[in-house]
Order: sequence, then structure tokens, then C-alpha cells
Amino acid sequence: MAVVIVVGVQWGDEGKGKIVDLLTEKARLVVRWAGGANAGHTLVVDGKKYVTRLIPSGVLREGVTCVLGEGMVIDPAVLVDEIRTFKAQGFIAAGRDLVVAERAHLTLPHHLEIDRLREERPGGIGTTKKGIGPSYESKAARVGVRVGDLLRPDRFRARVEALTTALAPYIRELGGSAPSVAEVTKKYLALGEELRPFVGDASRIVHDAVVRRDNVLFEGAQGVMLDIDHGTYPFVTSSSTTAGGACAGLGIGPTKIDRVLGVAKGYATRVGAGPFPTELNEEVGELLRKRGNEFGSVTGRPRRCGWMDVAAVRLAIRLSGIEAIALTKLDVMAGLDRVRLCVGYRLGGKTLDEMPVDLDDLAAAEPIFEELPGWPELAGSSIPPAAAGFVERVSALTGIPVWATSWGAGRLQTIVTQDPFSAS
Ligand code: IMP
Ligand code: MG
Repeated sequence: MAVVIVVGVQWGDEGKGKIVDLLTEKARLVVRWAGGANAGHTLVVDGKKYVTRLIPSGVLREGVTCVLGEGMVIDPAVLVDEIRTFKAQGFIAAGRDLVVAERAHLTLPHHLEIDRLREERPGGIGTTKKGIGPSYESKAARVGVRVGDLLRPDRFRARVEALTTALAPYIRELGGSAPSVAEVTKKYLALGEELRPFVGDASRIVHDAVVRRDNVLFEGAQGVMLDIDHGTYPFVTSSSTTAGGACAGLGIGPTKIDRVLGVAKGYATRVGAGPFPTELNEEVGELLRKRGNEFGSVTGRPRRCGWMDVAAVRLAIRLSGIEAIALTKLDVMAGLDRVRLCVGYRLGGKTLDEMPVDLDDLAAAEPIFEELPGWPELAGSSIPPAAAGFVERVSALTGIPVWATSWGAGRLQTIVTQDPFSAS
């Protein structure tokens, strides 16, 4: 297998968890490099549903070590809760089933409070309210508190004090009150003790696995369109969701990566505010939302649904160097008479092959649609001809192969047409 990065190419919720779970059959390590408890991966195995927040999707596979990398922001309360839940179900049994980077930053009550207060005011972008943006702000401001600090009580107290000094005036300005240093210290040091067995040098552990030629899978969170630098700013998350982000976030050199794969949904969804030119506000959108269960796995918010934006996917493919994609949720689209693909944009007399990310350009641009015949439900294991036509069209328009199609949430409801590790 080698060292593979998997990223979502839309606005998150492409079904990465399922695809990563499938790929982890051959992996030794599954690694996350950015984001935090804003992610929610839903996995269905033997009819049982599991949701992960911080822990990578490899958690259900025996012999797989899950790694939470340095570039993440980790809410210890969420992580401890997640560990307890998975342990109770028989997962995370061995000491090295989970590694939490000591240099990853923490999401503390201050960050949750700021995110919540800001979202309650006009001008919020519709975040998940998991404290993600404020955690990265503290990190960049050099007042952040890290996982390793949790294991050193004196240092932790001092760091929390400094963080509180820095943020209290701002929290008050927003109409809230800063958390008590004593309470935070007490509660989080106890959580830290539960995390202690898992804390380590994630970057070095992954590096050593790569040197041993173990199969390593990097699992992206969110999607490329939510990237802080390359997405539709400011309607983005606060981290690098592109494949390159994996190298920076985990501390691994680009020369060590063998393959980059993408996951796209056959249609598109977005949660939170921000431009979404292919959005469907009528019946079809409602149908996709219902059939696709398009409600946030973290927040429960209804996801906005629309046609697949190939022009956006092209942009994501370029930004992440994606070599092949998996197309998910084709079962959800079954039964539609006709389906559409946005193949480009018209703006100021020009035709664009990539979605423009500037908000004004995007508002002025007109999507160009192509219509294709719909398909019936999957019967057996052969793809209905119209669906095969859709898949071929996506591949032709993006210029890369589609190595798998997904027809339901279950581990077995996937048709792999090409070995993703050799697809190019
Ligand atoms: P934040 O990451 O909570 O700050 O939210 C910023 C934007 O990213 C909002 O539009 C969120 O809805 C979106 N977002 C964050 N994480 C996810 C995800 O895992 N799936 C889909 N959207 C997400
Ligand atoms: Mg999700």
C-alpha cells in the first residue's frame, strides 16, 4: 500500500469515514492532521452505527494504531468521552491503539465560549461551535495550551492563567465571562491523567512507521473547499484541509507521500453559511436531504444540498494533487429522473473551468450545467448503466479515474473498480 492521503474534495461530509474504513483493512496507522471535534465520521459496520469526532476512522480495525497529529486542536473532554465509548465497545484495547500528539493544541472552555458567543451575534459564519477557530487563534497568538502541558500540572496551571489573562477581556466584550482558572485546571488535569497513556510524539511514531514501510493512511477532515487558505474565505474552517496540510500538520516530508486520493459525493452538501451555487432549494434538494440523511453528525443541522460541482472538484483536485476519487452516496440519487453536473462557470464573458473562490466573483458567476439520465436502485453488484455513464462523465470531466463507488453506508456496499493504490 504505502503512504496515502485521503481528502474530501467538497465541503466535508463526503463519506470519507466509510472510504477510509475500507482502506484501513490494509493500514497499520490511520492519522488525522488538522481540525478537531468539528469533524464527525459516521461508520456503519454489521448494521451498527459508530460516530467518531476526534479519533480517526481506523478505530474499528484491530491492529490499527490511530494517531491524532500535531496540527489538530483537541478538546480533552470530547476525546476522553470518545475513548470511554469505544473502550466500552471493545475497541482501543491495547496501549498503542491510540496516539495523541503532545504538541497538538487544546480546545478549552474559553474557546468554546468565544465560538458560541460569536455565533450568537450577527455575522457568524455558522461554525460547529466546537471552539475550533478560537483554538487556532490562541495557537497563532502563542498563548495556546498543548496536550503535553496537561501532563505537567504546574506548567498547565501557568498556561491556563496566561490564556485566561489574554482572553478574558475579549470574552467579556462579547458578553460572556471567562472560565475560572482553578476549575479549568482541576477538571482538565484529571482528563489529562486519562489521556496520559496515549500521549506521545506522533510525528516520530508516524515517521518510524513510514521507514519500516508500514502502510499509513492520512485521513482528512472537512473538505478542500473549507480550507483556510484556498476555500471560500471567510466561510471556511481554520485549518489546512488540503493534502499538503497533512505534511505540515503531522510533520512529515512531502517526499514520503506515495498517493493522494479524494472522496466526492455524487451530489454536494454544505453546512453553515457561505456561497453554494449549485444549491437545490426545492423538492430535489429536500429529497436528497431526507434520503441521504443529510443532517450534521456533530450539530444535527440540516445540510444544504445541491448538484455536484465538478468545477469545484477540479479545483480541489488541483489544490491537493488528487490522483483518483471515490464517488459516494450514488444510492441516494437513485430514482431521480434526470441528474445534473455543474461543469464550469460563466463570468464576465469568460468560461471558467474551476469554481471561483472570491465571494463577489462567485456571486456574479453563473454555473453551467450538464444534464444526464438518472438511474434506478442498485440490484446485485453491477452498476446500473446510467449510473456508470454518470461516473464515466465525472471521470472525463475531472481527468482522473473513479476507483470506487459507494451505494450505502455499510462496509460492504461499495464497488471497487480499480486498485486505488495503483490508479493514476
Ligand atoms: P468550524 O470548523 O466549526 O469553525 O466551522 C467553520 C465552517 O466549516 C462551518 O461552515 C462548518 O459548518 C464547516 N465545517 C466544519 N467541520 C465540518 C465537517 O466536518 N463537515 C462539514 N462542514 C464542516
Ligand atoms: Mg462529517
